Amino acid sequence: MKKRILSGIQPTNQITLGNFLGAIKLFEQLQNEGELFIFVADLHALSSNNYEPKKMQENILNVLKVYYAAGLDFDTTKVFIQSKIPAHTEMFNALINFTTIGELSRMTQFKDKSSKFKMNNGTEKIPTGLLTYPVLMAGDILLYDATIIPVGIDQKQHVELTRDIAIRINNKFNTKIFEIPEPYFSKTGTKIYDLINPKIKMSKSNENTNGTIFINDDIQIIRKKIMSAMTDNLNSVNYDKENQPGISNLINIVCSINECDKDQIIMQFKDKNYKEFKTYVADVVCDFIHNLQTEIKKIDINNLLNKVEKNNQYCNEIANKKINEFYKLIGLK
Ligand code: TYM
Repeated sequence: MKKRILSGIQPTNQITLGNFLGAIKLFEQLQNEGELFIFVADLHALSSNNYEPKKMQENILNVLKVYYAAGLDFDTTKVFIQSKIPAHTEMFNALINFTTIGELSRMTQFKDKSSKFKMNNGTEKIPTGLLTYPVLMAGDILLYDATIIPVGIDQKQHVELTRDIAIRINNKFNTKIFEIPEPYFSKTGTKIYDLINPKIKMSKSNENTNGTIFINDDIQIIRKKIMSAMTDNLNSVNYDKENQPGISNLINIVCSINECDKDQIIMQFKDKNYKEFKTYVADVVCDFIHNLQTEIKKIDINNLLNKVEKNNQYCNEIANKKINEFYKLIGLK
């Protein structure tokens, strides 16, 4: 059997440059490396603090469009929508019994995201879905026997938990029902930082949207965001994450888009000031996003949705087979 590669993106808000460079670019590069399953993680989006039911279908379509514009071939790559495959929910429901509240509450992302649910009076109303999020993700992966999981570095811990769950179940039942997955990262885009606060991740949900580049942003706005990115007073283009996090982030962004070496950029801007460097970064990013936006405009939406529908059916067959096998193992069949 061809090795399986799987990943997904939540349809919360718009896709960011961080999502693109940390994950989507990898999907495209891995297309010929195995059987690729790429989905829209709409069930995951329910636990987000800015989840808006009325925008969900539009956001799902936007993710699909970006996948397509990035060069994913929807005939060979199985691009699908998570909630259209009921086995994801069934697998999640079974797997929560093989995880502990302790290990879930230790997840860094849970700690970060749950702080957003703190109210002014100090009380917290954290949705249980935020705690159980990594188990849903484990189900996504284990249902398809996927072994390679292309993600940004922030998802490493979740893939490791998936490995633990798979090994735990295999050992408990003395079987090899689950393959053991590995995270797969890009060299440069594993973590793109916020432009205004380069100590935090660029994210769909950061409060100040000036620090986040969205793929659908107006090109002039993107240029403005880059030109106002936080830098430092050293005025020398160097890769030093500790003392020059803003400049290092911009170097990373350029190298990730152009697939170039950091040293090459540092040499190129040795005697130049930050304004000249930022202008260059803005040119590279605007050009890159402009091309993506042009591809997005050309998409025939009906054709795209027909392909997704076919893929949903295909994925249902695979996922149903696995959940049946697992139900038998745990005595539900
Ligand atoms: P999401 O939508 O939060 O992020 C989607 C992907 O984008 C990566 N990413 C980044 N990479 C680099 N720099 C950034 N600033 C940045 N921001 C986001 C994330 O690491 C991720 O790869 N839980 C997943 C979705 C998911 C999934 C799965 C992934 C659900 N089930 C199964 C793999 C396998 C997530 O974080 O989505």
